[in-house]
Formats: sequence, C-alpha cells, structure tokens
Amino acid sequence: MSWITPVETPTTQDFHDLFDNKISSIIIENFLTPTECEKICQEILAIGLSPFDYDFHDEATDAYRVFDSHYLYEQKTPEEYFPKAAESNLKYQVFCEKLGFNPAIRVKDYLEKHLLRPVSIAEQNGQQYTYALVRELKNSALLHADFAGFLDSHWSISNITAQYAWNIYLSDPQNGGDSIVYNKPWLREDDQYIQGDTYGYSHKVVEKKEYYSIIPKPGLLAFFNSRNFHEVHGSSDIRLSIGGHVGINDKHEIVMWI
Ligand SMILES: [Fe+2]
Repeated sequence: MSWITPVETPTTQDFHDLFDNKISSIIIENFLTPTECEKICQEILAIGLSPFDYDFHDEATDAYRVFDSHYLYEQKTPEEYFPKAAESNLKYQVFCEKLGFNPAIRVKDYLEKHLLRPVSIAEQNGQQYTYALVRELKNSALLHADFAGFLDSHWSISNITAQYAWNIYLSDPQNGGDSIVYNKPWLREDDQYIQGDTYGYSHKVVEKKEYYSIIPKPGLLAFFNSRNFHEVHGSSDIRLSIGGHVGINDKHEIVMWI
C-alpha cells in the first residue's frame, strides 16, 4: 500500500504505522452524528471565538479559537502555562457538560480501543496540559509542522518520539478548506525555510514531496502524523474543527495534549 492511501478501517498496526509515518492518515467518517456536530457548533458560537494571539508581528491570516493551547506558550514558562491550562480545561469541561458528551474523551476511548493500551492526558508535576482546541480556519493556515520532541526539556512532552494530530470537522466549509499533509517530516535544519516573522515555512521545504488532501466534512475524524509539514487551504464558508495531539513517548506511554 502506498503512503498516500488513507486508512478507513484502522487496525492497531495502522495506528503504529501512523506514528512511524508509513501511512498518510486515518480517516473515520461519521465519528460524530450531524446532530452532535450542530450542537457543538451552536455551543461554540454561544461562547464566541477569539483570535489566535501568536507572538508573530507578520501573521499572514486571521484564525480563531476557543480554549487554550500549549503551542501559544511554548516560549513561555510552565508557571505561566499551567494555570491557564487549568482554566481552559475547566471551561472545556463546562462546554462538554452542556453538550452532554466529551469529543476529546471519545477520541481517547477510540484510541485506547485501537491501540490496546491506556491513553492519558499529558501531565507535568500533577498538572494537566490542555487537550482539546476548537479552531476556525476559513482564512487558511500556513505550512508548518508540529512535533513536541523539539521542545525545551522543561516541558514533559519533550520526551515525545512520534506524534499525530486528530481533528473532527464540525462544519461544511463548502469550497476549499482541505488539509494538505506532505510526506516530509520536520527536521531542525528545515527552520531555515521559515518565512519572515510568521510560523509558516516556504513551500521549498516540501518541493517534489508526495501529499494527501484531507477534505473536511462534518463528523469526520482525521488523524495524520503532525511532524509532517501540513497546511490548510482557505475556504468560502466557516471551517470549524475540534482537535489535539497524540504522542508516544520514550517510555512507550501514549498521551494527549494540544
Ligand atoms: Fe498543525
């Protein structure tokens, strides 16, 4: 089987192959029902989306979110991050109580069933990381990669040896909105391709690399290896998703965070 072909009925081996970048993605249709997606969208709009407050001066596109994410604190200290994480996780808990279900925990249960081992929320000194993030990316997302293994050692998730992203799409973005995943894992030296004062990389870094396009559809759950460079194309309509990261660490434990 080629790297590009997504897996639609995954086995335990497929989830390990995704960590090892032997396959592009695992795609589960109708992971959430249309009613569940509508309910989440209504609740998101009731809370209200906030802009991403990156430390970049030259942010290319506007993107919006609900809840906090570790990557906004990567350059800050654990003392700054964990109180915000606790606040965000509490807000997420209240959100889930209103929904009557917890989408991230449903993904965690799904992973445990398929990986045949426990999956936990990443922690550091008894404090939980954030683990679910709602994003609105109608205006696209620049080419980038996510890999906690390159973080400073004061973050417990820096012991991650392989990582993927999970996303459940909640709205139909109509035209566009594809996630493009390139078969090109991020290496330190690729940082020479960062463009200006943004988080985005030049497409030179993925030149001639094979890629797979994930087409968002409400209720669809997609996993891809987030160490691979990826980007989101702009869309005509609102593009809401909820997602996070899953990693395997040097002790072979599986953890979730975002
Ligand atoms: Fe990403």
